[in-house]
Amino acid sequence: MATVAELLQPVEADLEALLSDLRSLIGAGHPILQAAAEHLFSAGGKRLRPGIVLLISRALSPDGELSSRHRRLAEITEMIHTASLVHDDVVDEASTRRGVDTVHSRFNHRVAVLAGDFLFAQASWHLANLDDLEVVKLLSRVIMDLADGEVRQGLFRYDTGQSFETYLEKSYCKTASLIANSARAAGVLSGLPSSQLDGLYRFGRQLGLAFQVVDDILDFTGSDQQLGKPAASDLASGYLTAPALYALEERPSLAGLIEREFSEAGDLAQALDLVRGSSAIQRSRTLAESFANEARDALTWLPPSDSRSALLELPEFVLSRLY
Ligand code: IPE
Ligand code: IPE
Ligand code: MG
Ligand code: MG
Repeated sequence: MATVAELLQPVEADLEALLSDLRSLIGAGHPILQAAAEHLFSAGGKRLRPGIVLLISRALSPDGELSSRHRRLAEITEMIHTASLVHDDVVDEASTRRGVDTVHSRFNHRVAVLAGDFLFAQASWHLANLDDLEVVKLLSRVIMDLADGEVRQGLFRYDTGQSFETYLEKSYCKTASLIANSARAAGVLSGLPSSQLDGLYRFGRQLGLAFQVVDDILDFTGSDQQLGKPAASDLASGYLTAPALYALEERPSLAGLIEREFSEAGDLAQALDLVRGSSAIQRSRTLAESFANEARDALTWLPPSDSRSALLELPEFVLSRLY
């Protein structure tokens, strides 16, 4: 299976340029916030979201060339993503991200909150300057969804009565919305008709859901080092993701442990064992696979190109992170 770098190969040079553009875009700000943002941009992010925007943009361009507005859209997408991570890590009190200390551990909480705001604000400014109202609406909706998703996640902590639907809505807000709406926005900038815009949106939405389910599985099966961020932390924080929700259906004793918030010695270890020992991980894999297949099916209408081939392989790549 291809690595992310191999898959993004058709836009590798674009992604290199994106990184240096991002640095100069944020360079105009306050030195501390700049240092905080730079700290994360320089670490090992996969750049999957801007990669998708760039691949779609190239796949839709008759001569395979990129416009400066498509490039800017890709930069805005990564800025919004990175801002959401900075805030998510504050909410989660996470110590590492992209293999380095989180902004709040490296600096402090005040800096992290401001650095996240600063990145969202910069993204909004550059978004407005694209001068396309439809694109502004799509991406500002994403910023609303991200905040909504964090709030929902907080409201449902340790809530064993929550529905699977609640989990999927939260996942849409926190993860799929950005990929879906930035994919659609790339199509808007290319002047596509609405049926094709819907295909791009659906691709991003289903891929984003697959990506989140995979991330939620890896939280149970991966290591800190492999993930570049703390593993086995979702359940401990009371976040009930696909594996935990499936395990609750099979292992009634899990509910009690979660409801008392793992307050007794050995509770958390026992709960993790219950999830890992049930068929919950396998069922979560099956769910991720069906989202990934739906993502692929949504893009088959693209005209043949290297970028199209890479896009069609992305769902499989997302699943391959599990193996
Ligand atoms: C992390 O996204 C947040 C989730 C949606 C799980 P990525 O795994 O794409 O993070 P980076 O950008 O590569 O660090
Ligand atoms: C991913 O959610 C989406 C955002 C951070 C907005 P997670 O909470 O699962 O992300 P990680 O696991 O902290 O990377
Ligand atoms: Mg998190
Ligand atoms: Mg996660």
